[in-house]
Amino acid sequence: MAMTTKKPLLDVLTHKTPERRAVWMMRQAGRYLPEYKQTRAKAGSFLELCYQPKLAEEVTLQPLRRFDFDAAILFADILLIPDALGQKVSFKEGEGPVLEPVRDGKTLSALSGDNVTDYLSPIFETVSRLSQSLPSHVALIGFCGAPWTVATYMIEGGTSRDRHTARVAAWAAAGSDEHWFNRLMDLLVESSISYLKAQIAAGAEVLQIFETWASDLPPVLFERFCTMPVAKIIAGVRETYPGIPIIGFPRGAGALIADFSAQTGISGVGVDSGMSLREARRLTGDKMVLQGNLDPLCLLTGGKILESEVRAISAECDPSRHIFNLGHGIVPATPIEHVEKMLSVLRNADAERA
Ligand code: CP3
Repeated sequence: MAMTTKKPLLDVLTHKTPERRAVWMMRQAGRYLPEYKQTRAKAGSFLELCYQPKLAEEVTLQPLRRFDFDAAILFADILLIPDALGQKVSFKEGEGPVLEPVRDGKTLSALSGDNVTDYLSPIFETVSRLSQSLPSHVALIGFCGAPWTVATYMIEGGTSRDRHTARVAAWAAAGSDEHWFNRLMDLLVESSISYLKAQIAAGAEVLQIFETWASDLPPVLFERFCTMPVAKIIAGVRETYPGIPIIGFPRGAGALIADFSAQTGISGVGVDSGMSLREARRLTGDKMVLQGNLDPLCLLTGGKILESEVRAISAECDPSRHIFNLGHGIVPATPIEHVEKMLSVLRNADAERA
């Protein structure tokens, strides 16, 4: 058997047999934890929390003190890139992100990618602190948003109540080579490459690219505005770091998960709760590492249904090609005991299948 790194997440993503099934949770640091709410209150605002390395390190570590996860995900946000580009970004308590919308070439020209890595240097400090403080079996995940998803927030202003404006901009760009939307996408590709490379330099061992709004893209635009930009980012990062494992999460892509997995260069694919893992396997082939996909609302519900769903995932997926996760982020009302239960049921079910 190939030598393992003793980090289940790194092993599974590099096709070594992991010592156990790798597990982590999207949004594992967050409002379902009372200690998170405390630290956030201390920081003043969500952005302050992201930009203070000691506090960001602290909230990254909080879920790991409670749960035996195999990964830590850097505490930051996909909307730090727009902030670094010079767009006004804020997070209103209970409302989510608010951005001053970019909807024409003039507003776009006021943004600049020149200072992205300087501006985001506190994030790299968080990463390097974490790479010192994590338990040895825990892999450190860095991340960014995929260009389409980040662009939708930049264009809509982040309310995500009306998602039409971004789609119209994408269609307009598809009909003209000179449209500002193409420039925005290029800017996001380039900034994301620099941002992710700096995260790796600081100690990130795995990357995840969040395409939360893949579901917005009509199939004829999917390749151009989801698959291709993500492929460019991955190629750009791997020019410097050829071996870096990268997970893509094209939420709501449906059957397009097949093209996305085949064409971007990802090492693993996040499967949302709308698709069965069996179907995802069929669409992506034998070798692809699948990540997911317990429904966050099932975790919220708990009880027997939680137990049977976790058992079903264990039975369906071989740990050498699967990372246990949710199909999207944990919701704030989730009881902590449900997370504990999810983990114990999974470990027991895996022990029985071994
Ligand atoms: O634990 C972790 O997952 C690490 C940190 C992380 C956050 N956001 C912290 C956060 C990560 C990886 C993200 C990614 C992110 N941010 C995505 C992609 C993943 C997804 O969930 O689809 C998106 C779309 C965003 C943008 C964003 N940030 C929104 C829409 C919101 C508000 C809604 C919400 O879930 O609260 C945020 C705020 C945010 N980002 C919070 C956290 C912990 C809550 C902020 C708070 O404390 O009030």
